[in-house]
Amino acid sequence: MKILLLGAPGAGKGTQAQYITAAFNIPQISTGDMLRAAVKAGTPLGVEAKKIMDAGGLVRDDIIIGLVKERIAQPDCANGFLFDGFPRTLAQAQAMEKAGVHLDAVVEIAVPDEVIIERLSGRRVHQPSGRTYHLIYNPPRVNGVDDETGEPLIQRDDDQEETIKKRLQVYHEQTEVLIDFYGKQDGDNAPDYIRVDGTQPVEAVKTQVLAALKL
Ligand code: AP5
Ligand code: ZN
Repeated sequence: MKILLLGAPGAGKGTQAQYITAAFNIPQISTGDMLRAAVKAGTPLGVEAKKIMDAGGLVRDDIIIGLVKERIAQPDCANGFLFDGFPRTLAQAQAMEKAGVHLDAVVEIAVPDEVIIERLSGRRVHQPSGRTYHLIYNPPRVNGVDDETGEPLIQRDDDQEETIKKRLQVYHEQTEVLIDFYGKQDGDNAPDYIRVDGTQPVEAVKTQVLAALKL
């Protein structure tokens, strides 16, 4: 099963990704997580990517496409994967088509801009696992620490209001076009296109997504 999660920054892609990957036993491929790992490791890519991410921009298509091609060639992707935050531009989507990657389903989590700022400013993250919480909507059991490991939660560097606004603008300018790109495909090879109202509570979104994926 090859699935793509599409949605604005803060729509809940990472939150829903954990349920989908568990249900289908497929790995999550989050280009954001891959870039943050490179930043943490201090690689040349990480140093370059950090500047772009902190400014709310997009890392170059050729770099991202190279990273993803390398990742999906690994053995754990043989039975499929879940793309989270990729493709994010038309060029990235076209590169996947060219590489013969056929998606079974595209899940769009729709959330209006007004909701995003509140979501992202209240987000807290357990960096090693990528588990995500929200101070109000999805709080950890114990304040400030991860439910499973007890380790501290952090705030992402790009979750500052000015950066969030820029990320939203970039989403509208460069990523939103993918809604039509995938949603308007037809024919036998077209992926199932599933649109879910992402303003509902986490559990309700999860139930709808898994039902639409026929689980
Ligand atoms: P990336 O890490 O992909 O960030 P993003 O797309 O901006 O998405 P987020 O991770 O911020 O949001 P999310 O949808 O996962 O929401 P979450 O589940 O955490 O990318 C970061 C940067 O890396 C980019 O800006 C770019 O620079 C670079 N990059 C990455 N991929 C790239 C690519 N392909 N090409 C070029 N550059 C790339 O939820 C958000 C909050 O809301 C949480 O607190 C959560 O608890 C809460 N929440 C979730 N669901 C609900 C709900 N239903 N109700 C209430 N609260 C909820
Ligand atoms: Zn995410």
